[in-house]
Amino acid sequence: MATVTFDHVWKRFGDVVAVNDLSLDIQDEEFLVLVGPSGCGKTTSLRMIAGLEEITEGTLKIGERVVNDVPPKDRDVAMVFQSYALYPHMTVYDNLAFGLKLRKVPKAEIDRRVREAAKTIELSDLLTRKPRQLSGGQRQRVALGRAIVREPAVFLMDEPLSNLDAKLRVQTRAEIARLHQRLKTTIVYVTHDQVEAMTMGTRIAVMNFGLLQQVGTPQRLYEHPVNKFVAGFIGSPSMNFVQVTTGREGDRAVLHDEAFTVPLPDRFREAVGPTTGRSLTLGFRPEHLAIGPVGDNAATVRTNVDVVEFLGNEELLHLRAGHHDLVAVVDARHRVRPGDVLDLGIPFDKVHLFDDETGDSLAEVKAVSAA
Ligand SMILES: Nc1ncnc2c1ncn2[C@@H]1O[C@H](COP(=O)(O)OP(=O)(O)OP(=O)(O)O)[C@@H](O)[C@H]1O
Ligand SMILES: [Mg+2]
Repeated sequence: MATVTFDHVWKRFGDVVAVNDLSLDIQDEEFLVLVGPSGCGKTTSLRMIAGLEEITEGTLKIGERVVNDVPPKDRDVAMVFQSYALYPHMTVYDNLAFGLKLRKVPKAEIDRRVREAAKTIELSDLLTRKPRQLSGGQRQRVALGRAIVREPAVFLMDEPLSNLDAKLRVQTRAEIARLHQRLKTTIVYVTHDQVEAMTMGTRIAVMNFGLLQQVGTPQRLYEHPVNKFVAGFIGSPSMNFVQVTTGREGDRAVLHDEAFTVPLPDRFREAVGPTTGRSLTLGFRPEHLAIGPVGDNAATVRTNVDVVEFLGNEELLHLRAGHHDLVAVVDARHRVRPGDVLDLGIPFDKVHLFDDETGDSLAEVKAVSAA
């Protein structure tokens, strides 16, 4: 049973605030992904769990135990780094066994754990090889194996896939997910790659400039980002953002811009209030833009097609609408060509609104059903 709890944790390096008042409850057996741009404090947070970095302020618990002053070797965690740093002169078997020998684990027990780990990550046939006789993916598996044999309460992984090529990354990603299902151990996994975060995490914690932005399931973050940063970071290609002004058209509240006018969806009416002329950011995802007749529940925007990227089943369109650059993902059967003029539908139920100053998402009021 291992939870990890950050309670108002700070990390300062001189004047640099690497982690800013982090409070985060990581649950037992959870696969929590810590994601954010370079320098946002991911590695520092992970290293504080491992005990490799001192905590400036606040409390960190593993399970019920406060570990602020517990040395790394007594924390029952194992860390997998980006650079797998295997011992080149040792066989795979000895690489796996090394940490246990240092801890004076009995020989028979070492042998049992090494063989079991090798089976889990399919290295059984490679135990007598040296690292240089392995592919990059196999080496990364040995690095994972080295953590598995420790049988820790918590696995800490810092970008373990970033040295692998694209195909191997997808494969190893699935392997780690499978490993988690089998071992049922708490995993804290750091990456700057939102695709990895979305595909692997039970929950995702998004950080920016040392500050935790939002924690939630991948679906929650995708559908209900709390601010513009999370909205733009989660999802690929990124959400389109357009600056709009609140206004009225007859008795309707609208959002407008020189290129288009969108009726204000009812669920935002309360948050926007009656004022006109308020500047907001409208957000909508590329995959939610639709070609063709849109019906009553969408607004239409006229666009000029700049560039078409053919992706097989889909086409990624770079578009101009007024002075805005937009991106859309549509079915490849549309065969859109550069220079085409396209009317695209923006479905009302998929749009987001953000305050221009704070970047916060405007609160939505769920439509009250008649029932
Ligand atoms: N030992 C250190 N001394 C001074 N500043 C540091 C130290 N380690 C990290 N920092 C700073 O703390 C901030 C957070 O660094 P951290 O390594 O946690 O970022 P990260 O999110 O892991 O980034 P990346 O994706 O590039 O690995 C950065 O501004 C970094 O420059
Ligand atoms: Mg890092």
